[in-house]
Amino acid sequence: MRSIRTKLLLALLIITLLPVYPLYHLVKDFFSRSLEVGFNEKVIEALENASGLSQIVFSQFREETLDLCRALKRSIRSPSLFKSAGRIKFNFTPIEKKYGAFRLQFYDKKGVFLRQHFSGAVLVYPAIYEAQLHAFQVKTALSFFETNPQPAFISVYVPAIFSNEKTGAMVVTRPLPTAFVEQSRQVIEVNQMFQAIGILRGDLEKSFILAFFVIYLSFTVLIIVLGYLFYQRISRPLIALAAGTEKVAAGDLDYRMQVKSGDEIGKLVDSFNSMIEKVKTKQEQVVELEKKAAWREMARILAHEIKNPLTPMQLTVQQLRDEYKGDDPLYSKVLAECTEIISDEIAALQKLVRTFSEFARMPEMQLVQADLNELIRDVRKLYKDADVDLDLSSNLPLIKLDDEQFRRILKNLFKNSLDSIKEKGAGRISISTVFQNETILIGFSDTGMGIKDEILPRIFEPHYSTKKQSMGLGLAIVKRIILEHGGSISVESQTGKGTRFSIILPT
Ligand SMILES: Nc1ncnc2c1ncn2[C@@H]1O[C@H](COP(=O)(O)OP(=O)(O)OP(=O)(O)O)[C@@H](O)[C@H]1O
Ligand SMILES: [Mg+2]
Repeated sequence: MRSIRTKLLLALLIITLLPVYPLYHLVKDFFSRSLEVGFNEKVIEALENASGLSQIVFSQFREETLDLCRALKRSIRSPSLFKSAGRIKFNFTPIEKKYGAFRLQFYDKKGVFLRQHFSGAVLVYPAIYEAQLHAFQVKTALSFFETNPQPAFISVYVPAIFSNEKTGAMVVTRPLPTAFVEQSRQVIEVNQMFQAIGILRGDLEKSFILAFFVIYLSFTVLIIVLGYLFYQRISRPLIALAAGTEKVAAGDLDYRMQVKSGDEIGKLVDSFNSMIEKVKTKQEQVVELEKKAAWREMARILAHEIKNPLTPMQLTVQQLRDEYKGDDPLYSKVLAECTEIISDEIAALQKLVRTFSEFARMPEMQLVQADLNELIRDVRKLYKDADVDLDLSSNLPLIKLDDEQFRRILKNLFKNSLDSIKEKGAGRISISTVFQNETILIGFSDTGMGIKDEILPRIFEPHYSTKKQSMGLGLAIVKRIILEHGGSISVESQTGKGTRFSIILPT
C-alpha cells in the first residue's frame, strides 16, 4: 500500500513542479514586457514632447507677464507712490481686460511694503518675504522670482526708476493658467514615476518573482494535501479490501466490508461483499451435497446389504412354520407367535430399506417450465381436511423445476405440519409466494407445536427425528432437492406457536 501512496505523491509532485521552470520564464518575460510597454521609446518621446510643449506654453506666459509688467510700468508715473503708504485708486481696466487676474504690490526703496492692488478674481496669492525682495534690491531691470513658494503663481520684480534714480519697486504676481498647472503637474508625476520604476526595476522584478514562487509553492502544498486526502479516501477501502480478501482466503466467509460510499469504490466493496455471499452459499451447497452424497452411498450399500438376506429370511421363517409336523400344541403356538414376530420385523426392515433406497436413489432432475402457484394448489388438494390459507403472488414468473421432486418437498412439509398440528390438537397451514429481486420466496408456515430451540439446528440432518415410527429423512430430502435447484431453505420457530419454513429459489 505504501507504494501507491509514494507513486501518487510522486506523480502529483511531478505534475505540479514540471511547469515551474517554463512558467517562471513566462512570468519573468511577461514582467519585463509589461515594464517595457511603459519604458519604450514612443512613450518616452511622447512624455518629452508633452514636457516640451508645456515649456513653450510656460515661456509664452512669461513673455506675456513681462508685457503686463511693462504696461503697468508705463501707466504708473508718480514717484510718490513709492514713498509712503496709503490707499490709492487705479484704473487698470484695459490692462485687466487683457491680462486677467494679478496682484500688484508697492515697496519703497528700502523694500518696505506700502500697498497692494488686486485685479480680477480674488485669489489666495502667495506672500512675498523681505528676504526674497532683498536679493532684488540691486536690480534695475524686470526680474522673475525664480523660487516661487507656490508653483501655481509667477512673480516679477519691477524696479521703479524715476529720473535715473531707483525710487522703489513693484511686485507683480500672476496665477498660471489652471489647465497648464494641472498638465505640468501630471507630466512631472509621470516623469517621477518613470524614474522611480527605472530605479526600482530590479527590486520589483525580484519581489514579483518571489510572489510567483510563494503562490506556486502554496499551490503545490495545496495539491499535495488534496492528493493525500484523496489517497486516504481511496486507500482506506483498498486496505480494508485487502484485509477482507485475506480473511476470506483464510476461510472466514462471514466477513463483510463496512465501507459506505457511492462511487466506484463503493461498487467494488458491494460486489466484494456479494461475491463472498455467493461463495458462502455455493460452499454450503457443496458441503451439503457432499454430505448427502456420502450419506446416500452408505444408505445404498446398507439397503442393498440388508435387503438381500431379507427375502431368504422371510422364506426360511415361512418354511420353519410350515414344515413343523409335530403335534405339540404348545410348541406349535410358540412357533406361530415367534415366526409372526420375525415376519413383522422383517416386513418393518423391508419398509425401512425401501425408504432408505428411495433416499439413496438420485434420479436425474427433470427440469420443466412450471407454474409454482399451480403446483402448490395441486398438492394442497391432497389434504382436503386440512385448514390451509394460500396467499400466492399473481406476478410469479414460470421457473424451471423438477415437478415430481417439488411435489415431494411440499408433501414432506405438509406431513410435518399436519403431524405437529395433530399433536397440538388444532392449527392452520399458510403458504405464500412472492417475487422479489429476481428470486421467488415461498413461505410455508403452520400454527402447530413449534420446534424446540435445541433441536432446531438438527432438523435438516438425515435420520434425525423426534417421532417414534419415523426415519427423519423428510427435511433432509427437502433440503437436498432445494439445493439441487440452486435455492436455499431456512426455518424459524416458536415453541407452542408454530413454525415457518422459507424457501428462496432463483429464477
Ligand atoms: N412443522 C413442524 N413442526 C414441528 N416440528 C417439526 C416440523 N417439521 C419438522 N419438525 C421436526 O423436525 C424433525 C425432522 O423432520 P423430518 O421431516 O426431517 O423428519 P420426520 O418428520 O421426523 O420423519 P420423516 O419425515 O422421515 O417421516 C421432526 O421429527 C420434528 O421434530
Ligand atoms: Mg417429516
